[in-house]
Amino acid sequence: MQTERHAQILEERYGQGHEPKGIIWNAHIEHMMNHRSVRRFLPDGLPDGALETMVAAAQSASSSSNLHMWSVIAVTDPEVKSELYRVSGWGNPFIEDAPAFLLWVADQSRNNAISKAAGGSAIVHDYLDALVMATIDTALAAQNAALAAESLGLGVVYIGGMRNKSQEVADLLDLPGYSYVTFGMVVGYPAPEAQGRLRPRPSQDVVLHRDRYEADRAERISHYEGPFKRFRQDLGMKEKSFAEAVGYSANDLLYMDGRENLRATVEARGFKLR
Ligand SMILES: Cc1cc2nc3c(=O)[nH]c(=O)nc-3n(C[C@H](O)[C@H](O)[C@H](O)COP(=O)(O)O)c2cc1C
Repeated sequence: MQTERHAQILEERYGQGHEPKGIIWNAHIEHMMNHRSVRRFLPDGLPDGALETMVAAAQSASSSSNLHMWSVIAVTDPEVKSELYRVSGWGNPFIEDAPAFLLWVADQSRNNAISKAAGGSAIVHDYLDALVMATIDTALAAQNAALAAESLGLGVVYIGGMRNKSQEVADLLDLPGYSYVTFGMVVGYPAPEAQGRLRPRPSQDVVLHRDRYEADRAERISHYEGPFKRFRQDLGMKEKSFAEAVGYSANDLLYMDGRENLRATVEARGFKLR
């Protein structure tokens, strides 16, 4: 049954009049739909067992061919956090403020070593798909960990900026070949002022196609400008339309902030991307 609270979640998530119908509510769904990135943290450390719980949730995600092609590095040492903040490009000060910073590593190093130790060529790891598989496994694991953290009252924010200087990050963390940090994840107890509104998403008719890709769906995203603008206004963010945000992310290499070198870095780290 949809309660008033559920209706409020849907309205915040989609904007009034764009809410999907027929959501089947339960505690798990409500929890997932309540997600928001947290960028202000209390100084308190993670409770005992939180990291292990997050990793157990991460390990319970599906894994391509059950090959477990990821690792996670939990950084709590303030000096290491500061170094990682520096290489992330300075835009994410909460890396230093929060008690824990997790680095999610797409990791073919174990399986590469196992194969070669048994006399194999590990030829499959020369192909692009080896990188894609490890990256997918990493993302699925991390998102399970994020949901687990949120269920414990913790907050998280992903940090894609860890790919800006990918080789420096790898050196700092002593990463083996055939691996790279896909993203970081800041974890801690949210500060009270961090509990803002949910960030709106485009309505479902933009992303949900039935039976085949329906090209006209792309046009329907124009409705998203309203909720996008209102959210930014409410948070006192600089005025910007969604189309402008997309344009910047697609047209301006400044947006990449070093990630344009990612191909060269992963190739230098062993992946051949054939
Ligand atoms: C892979 C990935 C990388 C991200 N990198 C950053 C980042 O470097 N800094 C940041 O503040 N937020 C980062 N985010 C958070 C997104 O900005 C956020 O998820 C998005 O704006 C939607 O907001 P919400 O998570 O509050 O719903 C990242 C999210 C993902 C999935």
